[in-house]
Amino acid sequence: MVKHLIGNISEIDPKGSRTVVLEGTEIALFRLSDGDILAVENKCPHKGGKLSEGMVCGKDVHCPLHDWKIDLRSGCVQEPDTGKVSTYEVEVDPVSGAIYCLTES
Ligand code: FES
Repeated sequence: MVKHLIGNISEIDPKGSRTVVLEGTEIALFRLSDGDILAVENKCPHKGGKLSEGMVCGKDVHCPLHDWKIDLRSGCVQEPDTGKVSTYEVEVDPVSGAIYCLTES
């Protein structure tokens, strides 16, 4: 596992999001109302809508283009639609607020 520093929690408003590019892939980082930071590829599995611009409701983001609902923890699209977006493992340093993304290589 490799740890990549991708930002700091202070850069994301509560219930907000931001994007980072990691190894050529744009990732959307979300700060949920419960404080969790979740990361998914910033590309809706339907037609590529930018999920970072969607509305977050609980643990789901609503795609801004056609309102598909995607579970930010599993990456799964909610029924009746189908599909899955890549999710990324994220670690937050409790002291500094640094956000790390963990990848295989
Ligand atoms: S592109 Fe996301 S719902 Fe269509």
